[in-house]
Amino acid sequence: MLLEVRHLSIRFARRDAPAGGRRVVDDVSWTLDAGRCLAVVGESGSGKSVSAMALTRLLPEPPARYDAGEILLEGRNVLTMRPDELRAVRGGKVGYVFQEPASSLNPVLTLGRQIGEALRLHRADIAPAARDAEAARWLERVGIREPARRLGAYPHELSGGMQQRAMIAMALCARPALLVADEPTTALDVSVQAEIIRLLRELKDQLGMALLFITHNLPLVRSLADEVAVMFRGKVVEQGSVARVLDAPEHPYTRALLACVPRLDAPRRARLPTIEDFLAADGKAAVRYTVFQES
Ligand SMILES: Nc1ncnc2c1ncn2[C@@H]1O[C@H](COP(=O)(O)OP(=O)(O)OP(=O)(O)O)[C@@H](O)[C@H]1O
Ligand SMILES: [Mg+2]
Repeated sequence: MLLEVRHLSIRFARRDAPAGGRRVVDDVSWTLDAGRCLAVVGESGSGKSVSAMALTRLLPEPPARYDAGEILLEGRNVLTMRPDELRAVRGGKVGYVFQEPASSLNPVLTLGRQIGEALRLHRADIAPAARDAEAARWLERVGIREPARRLGAYPHELSGGMQQRAMIAMALCARPALLVADEPTTALDVSVQAEIIRLLRELKDQLGMALLFITHNLPLVRSLADEVAVMFRGKVVEQGSVARVLDAPEHPYTRALLACVPRLDAPRRARLPTIEDFLAADGKAAVRYTVFQES
């Protein structure tokens, strides 16, 4: 097994609540194998990004605190790794693509310099003199035309979609065993989004890479993921194969999420249900809104 998260709990300390703070990831467990894609879905603030950043301990500690659990990467617990081991894992064995390419690309360095730096850190097999050629190869692979010329470009000279491709190239050139893609297409328009998703699927299949795909977009889950974990207030409330979870959801919250997706073939109604429609007064998920499929 490539990745095994077992009973992970994470808390953020708060100055006004020194005794404990708030648990934002609560007893989360999941597994991910090479060549597979696990989608993590759930409303804003449910703990998706925090659990993904935790995989290589990217959260600032403090305020983050790992309360309990294990993160086993190829059988070794990330939570007990030495700093030098962690540095090799970050961007090496585990690559990240975030929603905003602008926040991950360095604005004052050319693409060639940035990809070259990733190669220097994580690809000892590529000689320094061969780094430009290797960087250009990855730019081409993610669909950037005239890659050799683009090595000299700065991020602001690229469109949003091209920046996102460059970030994927930078993450992939290290040949990660696991790519974490956190809302990788949310900031892009629909046609670019479709291209990036196609690219991720191709790369996963061709490189045998595992993909942890975080999204709000349930139709994208169907087109890319094998399994899905549904998060609600820090907990995984349901997980299983995409077909099982999306076609026969068991948990009221999953049903609520699915009901909130606008459907072109459904009869028009006054408004779409929201998550609040499914919450009972005590804040626990409950099916209260049952008439939404009727006209
Ligand atoms: N550095 C931090 N310090 C304190 N609290 C934090 C920190 N980072 C995240 N949180 C809190 O942890 C909770 C989970 O946040 P997280 O970013 O994982 O949500 P998410 O599911 O990724 O949401 P979104 O869909 O909006 O990206 C939120 O309540 C958030 O406010
Ligand atoms: Mg997030």
